[in-house]
Amino acid sequence: MEKKNIKIGLFGFGSVGQGTYQIIQENAALGAEVVRICIKDPQKERRISRENFTFRKEDILQDDSIDIVVEAISNAGEAFDIVKEALLAGKDVVTASKKMVSEHLAELLELQAQTGRIIRYEAAVCGAIPVLEVLDSYFAHEPIEELCGIVNGSTNYILSRMQDESLDYSTALRQAQALGFAEADPALDVKGWDAGNKIVITALHAFGELLRPEEVLVRGIDELPRHATRLAAAEGKRIKLVGRIRLKEGKLFASVMPEMLSAEHPLYSVEEENNRLLIYGKYSGLQQLSGKGAGALPTGTAVVSDIRALLNRRGYQYAKYKERALQSVV
Ligand code: HSE
Repeated sequence: MEKKNIKIGLFGFGSVGQGTYQIIQENAALGAEVVRICIKDPQKERRISRENFTFRKEDILQDDSIDIVVEAISNAGEAFDIVKEALLAGKDVVTASKKMVSEHLAELLELQAQTGRIIRYEAAVCGAIPVLEVLDSYFAHEPIEELCGIVNGSTNYILSRMQDESLDYSTALRQAQALGFAEADPALDVKGWDAGNKIVITALHAFGELLRPEEVLVRGIDELPRHATRLAAAEGKRIKLVGRIRLKEGKLFASVMPEMLSAEHPLYSVEEENNRLLIYGKYSGLQQLSGKGAGALPTGTAVVSDIRALLNRRGYQYAKYKERALQSVV
């Protein structure tokens, strides 16, 4: 008997939506098909046939034949409404919206418990690098002492261009936008907020703690003095936007800051839109996860990996969060 494909409803056809669509189209063995794509702008030129699109979210959310909703839009408020409605309608969800996830983590945990459905969001942190999978599953038992990393591709790309080619800040930012790395509102990238949102999501899986985005101390690269990169170069250093989460005496300290790194630092050599996360575990010591942190296909592949996990009904374990909840009851 022929196996039926899992039906996917996709929200958004920007960089991540298109990357995801392409990868699903190229992987028939996945056993999944995108049956409808919900978009906002009817005027925009699209590279696939118009029949694929709808402008009404109900066409996906109220379609009982659709099993999985993939949400990849830029408005965090609208993204949360879609995700909530999808879960309540009995659909599993994959989302790439880091702002939405970081602002609504508690509600997303609650909604999963209430509905028995699953939401996965690997694409929300570090593009193609399986950061959440590793922290949530492989390191579920491992006490993490510190995380430190480059978690925003656009700012790293901008800093690379400024430091290697003496490109000015605005031109480098425009390039990051043209390459599909930057957010629809690039202030999220350059002010460090996108990195802050990723730090919040990562903290839940690594330390079991629900931080609020405003609890992360954030400084971006938009206010760096013009000569900062030249000053760093004169000392043989490079400026990077570094996210950190440290556990000190049972309390988490989270920050995103531009730092001057010397050549010996493991983040020094991370260039362009690449990301790298350093994980300092009690037993494992230092582990490093590196790769492409932004772009249509790298982020799309994280979405597709989550779709595969859903085909096996595999959600996050949230092991450390559950342990903390139990400890606070005892
Ligand atoms: N704007 C984000 C970045 C996209 O530059 O890292 C990937 O999350």
